[in-house]
Amino acid sequence: MTELEYILDAWPMLRGKGPDVWATFAHVLLDKGKGVEAFTLALAAHEHPDCGNRDRALARFVLNAGVPGWHWDLVRDKARNAAYETALRRVVRSDSLVLDIGAGTGLLGLLALRAGAGHVVSCEMNPSTARMAAVIARANGVADRLRIISKKSTDLILGPDLERPADVIVSEIVDNTLLAEETLLTHRDAVPRLLQPGGHVIPGDGAIMVALGHDPTLVHRRMGMHEGFDLSAFNILASASYKVPVGTPGLHLLTQPVPLFEFAFDKPGSWPGNLADVDVTVQAGGTANSIIQWIRLTLDRSGVEGSVYEAKPGPGRKSCWAAMSWPLNTPLALTAGENRRIAGRRTDSKVTIWLAD
Ligand SMILES: C[S@@+](CC[C@H](N)C(=O)[O-])C[C@H]1O[C@@H](n2cnc3c(N)ncnc32)[C@H](O)[C@@H]1O
Repeated sequence: MTELEYILDAWPMLRGKGPDVWATFAHVLLDKGKGVEAFTLALAAHEHPDCGNRDRALARFVLNAGVPGWHWDLVRDKARNAAYETALRRVVRSDSLVLDIGAGTGLLGLLALRAGAGHVVSCEMNPSTARMAAVIARANGVADRLRIISKKSTDLILGPDLERPADVIVSEIVDNTLLAEETLLTHRDAVPRLLQPGGHVIPGDGAIMVALGHDPTLVHRRMGMHEGFDLSAFNILASASYKVPVGTPGLHLLTQPVPLFEFAFDKPGSWPGNLADVDVTVQAGGTANSIIQWIRLTLDRSGVEGSVYEAKPGPGRKSCWAAMSWPLNTPLALTAGENRRIAGRRTDSKVTIWLAD
């Protein structure tokens, strides 16, 4: 029984109806929290030969539910894609089994095959994303070698899902702060359970980089006098950090960058503790108003050009990842050569950063 037939069995009044009813009812299912059923019905409506613009628009609303917009940015980040492909080329062989955690569009799985891997198993925890990754694998003629499994990696079962521990685990499950997509929890589970002893993990290392700097957008993030009233007390409720595109004009670093936390993803036992502090040396005098933070991924440890991807801010820079700005309580005048200390606390999925007292 197809998934659509299951839905038509469960809601028989949908039988014999057209895409207009299906697309509308998909909204009802979505509102009732039945996201998977809603997706299936919306997809069927969208693919129906009689689907007009109105019904397509209704269906698209449901299809997009829960799908982050950054998928469209990731695939365009050529430096990111090249870094992954180069690392994959260095480690995969024709008999390699690659486990791709977090298929998304399936791009990393496709790159692994192009790099010469025999087989890729790609898991994806978002069911609608997994469905489309499977469509993409078929559309690119590799469905026999790129198997998409609609599961979270922690639910994968050796045997039925992954015939044997993989030779390579590749993933891109890091956000602007490195940790919020639960990359640590995922690797803590996957490395001992789903990887051959001595297998490769791509990226091998991830670092949370920090520097003191000047964030020109901070002024728009804080309240002051508005309509003749002092609203600045509200600032205590402001988010401790926010995103700033890495190429934002005027965004610049005043100290040398340093890693605050570094994780070897293939060695969960080696990860740093929850608290860290680092000294940063002022390179250029000026006034800092924020701690600027970004991520660095070491795809592999060969040290060769292109093995490290860093979303470091700077003029004209681009990245699908943004930098994070962690505003200081008060602006800080800095003199070249002096040292300041930046501190942070991390959990498995969150980081907080501040200027040490
Ligand atoms: C940032 S996207 C990357 C997509 C694609 N791999 C790429 O690099 O273009 C991460 C994807 O991984 C999925 N994901 C995150 N953690 C996962 C896990 N532990 N198991 C399965 N999927 C996961 C998310 O749902 C999302 O679709």
